[in-house]
Amino acid sequence: MKLEDFLKTKGTNENLAQLIMLFSKQATDIKAGFLSAQGAADTKNVYGETQMALDKRADEILIAALKESKLVSWIATEEQPDIIEVKDAVNPFGVTIDPLDGSSLIDVNLSVGTIVGIYPGHVLELGNTMLGALYILYGPLTTLTYTTGSGVHEFVMGEDGNFTLMQENLTIPEGKIYAPGALRKDYLPYHKQFIEQLESEGYKLRFSGSFVADVHQILHKGGMFSYPAFEGKENGKLRLLFEGTPLGKLVTEAGGAVSNGNINLLDVKPVAVSDRTPIYIGGRKEIALIESIKRS
Ligand code: AHG
Ligand code: MN
Ligand code: MN
Repeated sequence: MKLEDFLKTKGTNENLAQLIMLFSKQATDIKAGFLSAQGAADTKNVYGETQMALDKRADEILIAALKESKLVSWIATEEQPDIIEVKDAVNPFGVTIDPLDGSSLIDVNLSVGTIVGIYPGHVLELGNTMLGALYILYGPLTTLTYTTGSGVHEFVMGEDGNFTLMQENLTIPEGKIYAPGALRKDYLPYHKQFIEQLESEGYKLRFSGSFVADVHQILHKGGMFSYPAFEGKENGKLRLLFEGTPLGKLVTEAGGAVSNGNINLLDVKPVAVSDRTPIYIGGRKEIALIESIKRS
């Protein structure tokens, strides 16, 4: 079944369905850049990271499409210093976008993706208030995984650029994969204990450098991804609004959990769009384990 028909069958709010379709339609354009726009741009983003040509291209494509559609009032992206307000929008929605996650892997042809969070209004709100979230993964297949709060559903792009249903109502299984970010020498004691416990239980290492690809794998195979607080960086590396809450919402809807080590990440009120946070995401068992180790 085509994505558009599936959204209708599910009784998805029409404005929300239009917005999800809009993102799905940009995937072809974003992918076209993989051939033509390789390499780094000569600019840095607000985090001081060198932008890749494709980071900027994907950002421009998505912002232009959103502005033209007038489907959202607020656009926040990882590549922009400020939240963009669309004055004459037809919906009060806000979106947070990581246009290209894992972009350091572009030159080695590994999977990267686009991550989107959808809010009923302004984006500086609890993740728990989100209307939905989605990601598009550009791998051997291009897939789109979304939730609007009633299940997590996955689609695959065909040769005509349309997405068709692959899997309805995805749930995260039990599994023994771990994707531990940051350097082991910088681990804080509670995190070291957590990782060592997983290793003693036979968890296998799978860390690619693309959060969205790693979480996608964990959503399908179980286990957990972490990018913790570490020596000298108490907020870790990843961004609350662009990476943490959207994938946190998806994994939670699939029966998993997300945490900053202390509390559910979806209960954290952002202060600024650029907020970073420690992230633990995956199976409920693993997330409960880190929270209990940290508490003790
Ligand atoms: P982005 O490409 O959007 O800047 O995000 C990169 C992130 C994330 O995708 C990944 O898990 C992490 O950075 C990898 O960081 P390290 O290179 O420190 O492992
Ligand atoms: Mn990212
Ligand atoms: Mn990015």
